[in-house]
Amino acid sequence: MRNISWNKSLSVEVDEIDDDHRKLIDLFNMLSQSVAAGDSDDFIETLLEELISCTQCHFKHEERLMLLYKYRDMAGHKDEHDELMNSVNALRRKYHEQDRKLSDEDIEYLETWLTEHILGHDMRLGFYLEEVM
Ligand SMILES: [Fe+2]
Repeated sequence: MRNISWNKSLSVEVDEIDDDHRKLIDLFNMLSQSVAAGDSDDFIETLLEELISCTQCHFKHEERLMLLYKYRDMAGHKDEHDELMNSVNALRRKYHEQDRKLSDEDIEYLETWLTEHILGHDMRLGFYLEEVM
């Protein structure tokens, strides 16, 4: 079963962003555990929707901070958010097409989807915000 454990290497050194990321990681871990445990389709779908909605909300939170603190690389970061939402929406479509079943590959994909977001653009944004906040 895939599980992400929070550790210092995932911190972007900005508490309000780290809090969001911890919440997203908790939801991912719950989802992975529920799929492994064979929980009901309704429960798993609700968790998947919660993960997607909370991610969307988190992206808006980051975009608000980027505007507030005049982050120069906002366009690139926002493009990445749009791509991440497109790719998770594609996964959601596939999930419905395949009878609401999440495969091990889907879970692995979501894990990479989440950690690459945190370790890529967010680290750079974190370094910037830490300086200016
Ligand atoms: Fe983020």
